[in-house]
Amino acid sequence: MAKAHRPATPSASSPLDPLIERVSQFSADHYWDLGKFLVERVIPAALKEGVYAEQILKRMAEMPGFKFPYSMLKQCQRYYTYYPDVEKRPLPEGFYFELATKVEESKLRDRYEKLAIANKWTISDLQKKIRDDELARREDEKTRYGFDLKQKNIWSFDIPDPRFGKPNMKGRLPGQIVANALYYYTGPGWVVVDPMAGSGTTGDVIDALPYFKDRTFRMYDIEPCDSRVKRVNILQTGIPEQTGSVDYVFLDPPHDFYPRGTEPEFTPATSMTETLTKFKTIVRECARILKPGGRVSIVVEPTVGPFGIIDFPFEVTSLARGLGLASHSKVYLPRRSDSGRTMVSVESMKNPLSDCRELLTFEKQ
Ligand SMILES: C[S@@+](CC[C@H](N)C(=O)[O-])C[C@H]1O[C@@H](n2cnc3c(N)ncnc32)[C@H](O)[C@@H]1O
Repeated sequence: MAKAHRPATPSASSPLDPLIERVSQFSADHYWDLGKFLVERVIPAALKEGVYAEQILKRMAEMPGFKFPYSMLKQCQRYYTYYPDVEKRPLPEGFYFELATKVEESKLRDRYEKLAIANKWTISDLQKKIRDDELARREDEKTRYGFDLKQKNIWSFDIPDPRFGKPNMKGRLPGQIVANALYYYTGPGWVVVDPMAGSGTTGDVIDALPYFKDRTFRMYDIEPCDSRVKRVNILQTGIPEQTGSVDYVFLDPPHDFYPRGTEPEFTPATSMTETLTKFKTIVRECARILKPGGRVSIVVEPTVGPFGIIDFPFEVTSLARGLGLASHSKVYLPRRSDSGRTMVSVESMKNPLSDCRELLTFEKQ
């Protein structure tokens, strides 16, 4: 038979080809058999060729016309790996496929198996129990941390948590963003500095959440909101912290740092330089006060106008690199749906406005 599929392996004809051909002949409902073939034949042969298990599964799935998606190959691999003895087990096979693909932890899989036998569950009873337990686990997590911990890199919160920041303050960030940043980017005992503290959201999060009780913070702003914030114009005097003394900086610059693009004297190049000069002054200060291994998270957004885009996240990343700060993480911060910012006519611009800030985190080398 003509070989319809060829792996994206370096060699034109690889010993993996006939095995891949066999995989494509499996029936779509023979999960266990397919898993066995992958685990016992394809993956060992791929490893011999210097290709990891994940890579070979992905390569197969990406081949034009290949009938199994990667997710399914992965499920079959897990199914056979966890339950090579499925035929000798007391429950119907579907139960084990469900367990293998939905439950990561082996002890938990064993517990569900015992419960299903003891309570004579149907497969939908099992699915419901797994789903309910997962929801309960997430709720538990919320209670444990005291805030909504985001698992992925889009942090969107329609309602700012009223415990953090001052409600009427312009430019206040939802405190959940700061809480997630502190969770991901700081460790126990870290010293946190917010040089543009606004309504004191960073301090509120650390004060209110027991999870962060061993972090200490210092806040600065040109217009302090309360006695915890020290009055400083950081563009003029820098951040009043010793060199190499701080573990983490959370930096949320004001919106008026950015060009709007509608001013009569606006030219993209000059405006970009003006904004970047401010960023450079502040980021250089952050790099100075950070300990090696310390981190800074910066809220930054592109400017879009009739002239096109000024990609400030990209520009700030370049200048941070030049200051010895390596990229560590990027999170998207979509604006709240009620933000209602549409001052410019998009029809005339033919370029969608930005409605999403980015939280860029860098680590001092
Ligand atoms: C976007 S707000 C910060 C909001 C804050 N993250 C919060 O949740 O409330 C930016 C802050 O930077 C302050 N700011 C602007 N220029 C400054 C400067 N040169 N030095 C210090 N703070 C400045 C503003 O007063 C404003 O409070």
